[in-house]
Amino acid sequence: MKNFTNVNKAVFPVAGLGTRFLPATKAQPKEMLPIVDKPLIQYAVEEAYEAGIRHMIFVTGRNKRAIEDHFDTAYELETELEAGGKEELLAVVRALTPADMDCSYVRQPRSLGLGHAVLCARHIVGDEPFAVLLADDLMCGPQDGPGVLAQMVEVFAQVRSCVLAVQEVPLAHVQRYGIVAGEPAGERLVKVQQMVEKPSPDKAPSRLGVAGRYVLTSAVFDAIRNQPRGSGGEIQLTDGIAQLIAPEGVYAYRYQGKRYDCGSKEGFLQASVEFALRHAEVGEGFRDYLRGLDLSA
Ligand code: UTP
Repeated sequence: MKNFTNVNKAVFPVAGLGTRFLPATKAQPKEMLPIVDKPLIQYAVEEAYEAGIRHMIFVTGRNKRAIEDHFDTAYELETELEAGGKEELLAVVRALTPADMDCSYVRQPRSLGLGHAVLCARHIVGDEPFAVLLADDLMCGPQDGPGVLAQMVEVFAQVRSCVLAVQEVPLAHVQRYGIVAGEPAGERLVKVQQMVEKPSPDKAPSRLGVAGRYVLTSAVFDAIRNQPRGSGGEIQLTDGIAQLIAPEGVYAYRYQGKRYDCGSKEGFLQASVEFALRHAEVGEGFRDYLRGLDLSA
């Protein structure tokens, strides 16, 4: 691998079917569901941008046009807002795509799994290290601190091998995650020795679950391509990364901050309530509204 110093590209796999949110996701992508007034995919893109990444690569599928439109210029809308003197809204719309940000789109023809989706971006990523962000995991860094991906890019600069965001999960939930186990390698770092996708609680080697943020080396592409289908018959990203443990080393990073699993209804609702409470425009009124609710019913 060449000695790239920075992580310049981020891959956003957005080609999943979003079945847990049907019927809302029948004709629109799950990643366009808003938390208050911003779609999930925009939170993830902003997190990548904050981490210094300027090339965003979306792995899309059918029904995902809205994502391309969201990050494209909207001449009609901008002209209307300008004519109506709505400067603040115009700034909000224009801030979506800073001038130094590039977007690329590639199709995943069938939902064959997250590993397959990442592989679809190979020709655009090339042989550089890159980030993967799953937009349905909404990540918040600590207050006034760096975002989760920014923390991971910093760690990658030190270890120069794959870095996975992890958190302790309840034993009853290990079956929902890729689970890693290994040796402590720093205050928040674990050198991974074992990785299992969605193990049953009795087979889980630990309770450290992988969240939807990765910094990967390009060696993962060959590893994904050469592996058989994994859990659920899908081409799993976890299985590909696991093949890099021996040759390159893989690190798990206990991120600082909070994760909302917005791929599930419960996590989506939790994020909506907490982000609404913090929202500059509606936060105060919404707090009053919640206080007035009778929750005993
Ligand atoms: P999920 O399994 O959480 O997403 O995949 P899903 O399939 O869209 O949702 P459900 O389970 O049916 O409700 C995690 C991420 O990987 C992407 C999804 O879009 C999501 O962001 N993904 C998954 C792909 O891009 N392609 C795939 O083949 C599978």
